[in-house]
Amino acid sequence: MSPKHLLSIDDLGRDWIEEILRLTDSFAEVSARPIPKVPALRGKNIAWLFYEDSTRTRLSFETAAKRLSADTMNFSVSSSSVNKGESLRDTCLTISAMGVDAIVVRHKSAGVPWQIAKWIDASIINAGDGWHQHPTQALLDCYTLTQKFGSLDGRHIAIVGDIKHSRVARSDIAAFTALGAEVTIVAPQTLMPPSLEGWNCKVSHDLDAVLPTVDAVYLLRMQLERQQEALVPSLREYTAGYGLTDERLEHLGANTLIMHPGPMNRGVEISQKAADDPRSAVTQQVANGVSVRMAVLFLLLGNNGSDSHPNAPRPNDQGPNEGIL
Ligand code: CP
Repeated sequence: MSPKHLLSIDDLGRDWIEEILRLTDSFAEVSARPIPKVPALRGKNIAWLFYEDSTRTRLSFETAAKRLSADTMNFSVSSSSVNKGESLRDTCLTISAMGVDAIVVRHKSAGVPWQIAKWIDASIINAGDGWHQHPTQALLDCYTLTQKFGSLDGRHIAIVGDIKHSRVARSDIAAFTALGAEVTIVAPQTLMPPSLEGWNCKVSHDLDAVLPTVDAVYLLRMQLERQQEALVPSLREYTAGYGLTDERLEHLGANTLIMHPGPMNRGVEISQKAADDPRSAVTQQVANGVSVRMAVLFLLLGNNGSDSHPNAPRPNDQGPNEGIL
């Protein structure tokens, strides 16, 4: 059976990640059509519950839902009764009472999507919880890497920057290594998590030593909004040590992929030139986000309980789902 929720990359494992990437291929084909719309989720209702700001994740989920013909509840926390003190639980129960098949949630506190999954019956998709997880970002990053390299087996990826506060780093490490890649995290000690026990990656503080060895360099945004104190002496010094500067760009391998989850701080973790370099996959990551989120919504909501084990027929195969796409 397909999973009911998408809360963490750790819940998926290699088989389900690969199944989502295969589904994404089908939905990328749909997205390339003159009219990119299919009836796969007609009659399903999806609500957005974003307690933190978002551009890419929210808009791409909305676009994905529309392309699948789902109905959506455009709930905006900033203009809702949350401002009158309504609790998270009561907000979820209220949305659930109106009839909802899935809630896509982003919250500054780790674990909130798990709590909501206990309170209501709908599928819950984690669109980012604190420093903890951002599973659809990791899936779109895997898809972007496989477009470039085919298999990730044996590939080496450096994730550079504010690892401590990064849900993207935590999800990406789990997803990349599940697909066979080796990951090195690179940051000053102050931007590393207090403990690296259980982290399935190598650790470095020397970006210039790591860069020549990687197939992809993944820059992270300096998350100043999550930092209670200055964790680097100055942004200029941070850039000198850990930014993808014009000088480092000159020495980067011709086939090395440059990635960033966005939003970018141009001139801090990535130079203007590096962001716009032909090796940069940043806009490709955004475009892939729509197809990946179509695949996730379809996997969770589109199979009506039919067997969707990774070996089961895919939506554009002959079989139970014939005609959906
Ligand atoms: N990568 C990402 O999550 O971007 P947003 O914060 O704009 O959604």
